[in-house]
Amino acid sequence: MDRNLALEFVRVTEAAALSVGRWIGRGKEKSADEAAVESMRKAFDSIRFDGTIVIGEGERDEAPMLYIGEKVGAGEGPKIEIACDPLEGTTITALGRSEALSVIAAGEPGCLLHAPDTYMDKIAVGPLAKGAIDITKSASWNLKEVAKAMGKSVEDMMVIILDRPRHQDIINEVRECGARIRLIGDGDVSAAIATVREETGIDMLVGIGGAPEGVIAAAALRCLGGDMQGVLKFRSEDEKKRARQMGITDENKVYGLEDLAKGNVMFIATGVTHGSFLSGVRYTARGAHTHSIVMRSETGTVREIRAHHHFAKKPNYGWS
Ligand code: FBP
Repeated sequence: MDRNLALEFVRVTEAAALSVGRWIGRGKEKSADEAAVESMRKAFDSIRFDGTIVIGEGERDEAPMLYIGEKVGAGEGPKIEIACDPLEGTTITALGRSEALSVIAAGEPGCLLHAPDTYMDKIAVGPLAKGAIDITKSASWNLKEVAKAMGKSVEDMMVIILDRPRHQDIINEVRECGARIRLIGDGDVSAAIATVREETGIDMLVGIGGAPEGVIAAAALRCLGGDMQGVLKFRSEDEKKRARQMGITDENKVYGLEDLAKGNVMFIATGVTHGSFLSGVRYTARGAHTHSIVMRSETGTVREIRAHHHFAKKPNYGWS
């Protein structure tokens, strides 16, 4: 896969972040999401590649843009499959809270799991605990194994969990083990990434979040050397039916990291609101500052890109 594409794709997440940045804290989730989608869609077409959305805004009948199967890119050049979340953290953005991102994972055809738009039970850890997790076992079993692999006591572990009523049993179990918890309102892509970044102090992510977000997070963890497992969790018979149509035959399959994102994959993200690893969009008199990250699994290189955008001098994909 052309390594320069990763740098090209930064323009796409930057474009989405620049547009959605206008909606931070304004209480309008839908407007924020629409701004991100529209700008991301336009920016894709400025890049020479033959892209197909495999994870995006939903099925064709429910999403006007970036729907599953939609062709993106200038139409010639390498064939690339895209998993995108133009705005990961719509509520976060609407409330002006931290850790909202615009994000893309990309790979050659067949690299990214074509995950249905349902939930996924997830467990993610950093490089020290690679191979120590088993999602079929209890949270306390995993906690002990991960602590052992990391050379820490369970009491010193910090587990990140989405703050949802469905997680009350896991929360109780982790607390009974003596470990500490960071409960977050939203944003389990950045939470999964936090497990591989030592400075965050986060050791493990557990719990149920979006399946599309699971695939995107897995691409990041492939680049960063972490580990992850996931099991699809369906909310209705209709979701099961859609999954079957997408080729999912085993509803209880345990997806390992390489089942979620295999081969050479890329992960690209731009901060929308301020977060633990990316700063948010900051507007100036002439334009705006953005902070992005670009990673490739092939080399493991992680690049951070801080850009100063001059709005009068660049194509406008919807940010002014
Ligand atoms: P959105 O940006 O689509 O709102 O997703 C935010 C998020 O918190 C994800 O990070 C997470 O995977 C999912 O929602 C959890 O879903 P739910 O809010 O239904 O528990």
